[in-house]
Amino acid sequence: MTAGPRVAIATADAIDDAAGLIRAGRLVAFPTETVYGLGANATDDAACAAVFAAKGRPRFNPLIVHVLDVTGAAAHVLIDERASRLADIFWPGPLTLVLPRRADCRLSLLVSAGLDTAAIRSPAHLVARDLLRKADRPIAAPSANRSGEVSPTTAEHVAQSLGGAVDFVLDGGPCAVGIESTVLDLSAMVPILLRPGAVTAEALSAALGTEIARAAPVGGEDEGLASPGMLARHYAPGRPVRLNAAKRRAGEALLAFGADAPIGDGVLNLSTRGDLAEAAANLFRMLRALDQPRYAAIAVMPIPDNGLGEAINDRLKRAATPA
Ligand code: TXA
Ligand code: MG
Repeated sequence: MTAGPRVAIATADAIDDAAGLIRAGRLVAFPTETVYGLGANATDDAACAAVFAAKGRPRFNPLIVHVLDVTGAAAHVLIDERASRLADIFWPGPLTLVLPRRADCRLSLLVSAGLDTAAIRSPAHLVARDLLRKADRPIAAPSANRSGEVSPTTAEHVAQSLGGAVDFVLDGGPCAVGIESTVLDLSAMVPILLRPGAVTAEALSAALGTEIARAAPVGGEDEGLASPGMLARHYAPGRPVRLNAAKRRAGEALLAFGADAPIGDGVLNLSTRGDLAEAAANLFRMLRALDQPRYAAIAVMPIPDNGLGEAINDRLKRAATPA
């Protein structure tokens, strides 16, 4: 048996310790408003390499870099007028922008996985912000789970998924948004939505006054994908997932949605009110809770595809793609 990580409530003292560990090249998991991140000093090659090792993540899948604000971002990537406008409106918050690396960019090349861009976001969670301030470094942080698993929305999920592969876990309670940030590629003329999230395509399109293109999900593990994280199977529980289920079959668990859903043993409801934000916040926790050997599969009721529903359905489709 390997020892688990040290887990502590995110007090000011604990965040001081965590910042010291980041500066020393160690790995710290911390809460953000979306999901927990596995953080490392983004300017330290060895620390970034350790992130890939801890997650079992393929080296061609780049990492998101967290900064306090647009000034922090501008030290590493080129901020054009579109990026500046979106940062004004949506930062701090669940929006990641893929932008060209500056010629003098000090971010480890590992965070870009060979691309000439870097993905940057300014998280809103106060613990994440305090950690960034105290570490005084950009922090590379993918979701704090083993590669291919459902993203963690509590400190306990992080400890279960990564065990001793992470040095320290800051516990800030459950994540409010519950699904990973929206990823928008602004490195070319046409903005491309690489991953839907809480900042919706509609909101981005309205802010920019242009159409947003969508990247088609891909099935293979090819290198050189626009967003290598778009592997079709991702965010996956161990049990098969059956989508758009009108009702559950014998032996199945049910992930329900809305007021008219069945109740009972083996049923969890994402939102009895039919609220998409509540459903997103519950999604990964409930998928984990239903992912038990006593169920043959997890049936999922239909979720509306508008607004945040696009992000929820994106994660569910990936979870349902056979291994
Ligand atoms: O909400 C989030 O974004 C969380 C929290 C911790 O901030 N982080 C997260 O990171 O979800 P990760 O590594 O699990 O997802 C990063 C996504 C992947 O799909 C990756 O391929 C994409 O962002 N990405 C990162 N850098 C990129 C780049 N330079 N070009 C295109 N896609 C990039
Ligand atoms: Mg992830």
